[in-house]
Amino acid sequence: GTTSKGYSYETLLEIANFLISRVSDTPRIGIICGSGMGSYWKEGSLAETISDAVKISYEDIPNFPVSTVEGHHGQLVFGKICGIPVVAMQGRFHYFEGYPLWKCCLPVRVMKLIGIKTLIVTNAAGGLNPNYKVGDIMIVKDHINMMGFSGNNPLHGPNDERFGPRFPPMSKAYNFEYRKIAKEIAKELNIDDIVREGVYTCLGGPNFETVAELNMLKMVGVDSVGMSTVHEVITARHCDLKVFALSLITNECVTSYDIIGEANHEEVLDVGRMRQDVLRQFVSKLVERITQL
Ligand code: 6GU
Repeated sequence: GTTSKGYSYETLLEIANFLISRVSDTPRIGIICGSGMGSYWKEGSLAETISDAVKISYEDIPNFPVSTVEGHHGQLVFGKICGIPVVAMQGRFHYFEGYPLWKCCLPVRVMKLIGIKTLIVTNAAGGLNPNYKVGDIMIVKDHINMMGFSGNNPLHGPNDERFGPRFPPMSKAYNFEYRKIAKEIAKELNIDDIVREGVYTCLGGPNFETVAELNMLKMVGVDSVGMSTVHEVITARHCDLKVFALSLITNECVTSYDIIGEANHEEVLDVGRMRQDVLRQFVSKLVERITQL
């Protein structure tokens, strides 16, 4: 069962057991918190409002990667949202930090072995769809795995059947029921004017895209573009986790040479902070409703 690429099933099981031994409730839902969900700052974000929290730094977990993005938190937060046990990743691993994709996605497999059935993934993204506004929340309906087109895939290398099949389908990656519930919640919270549904793509970063690149992506039907999520979702679906994902639209993509502004990281963080209350409420309700299914 050992693979030449990535960690063996046994090593991941050791990491999972290490974590299980430190918490009282086994979570059924995992959440990856991107920018806007508590990966950067302390107060008010979803990750920071988890009750009965047990926080475990990535550096204190044997064999776990360590986040290198400045200002980014790097910890797992075990605790409860609306009384439901969850585990949240406060800070994720990005490809641009230098990790291979399988390593970026290692926590997904660890969370699977801890016992989660559902993965909720959040990210900050540029809006390519001309109807999108800064601050909109896009429910991810589907993705285009741009990095996969060149053969870079988290599942590249020998397959361990204990996680999933060699050739996993990806046509129903983003759970239909969850998306339906999310749209209902948007109505209940009176935020359906800012909640969209669309196609996400991930580019490796760390640079933002050129005008020509963004226009190409727009042409092939991409609505939002970021630097994460796709490989995490592929890894999650491979091991049969149910997936929900959302993009917080933090900036309009520059698709014309006449536009004066440029994408920048500060803007991404500002919009994340601006929307943290809404995101917290939205995801909390989603956790509650998913559990009732
Ligand atoms: Cl414009 N591109 C990418 N790749 N990621 C982003 C973004 C743009 N805006 C926020 N995150």
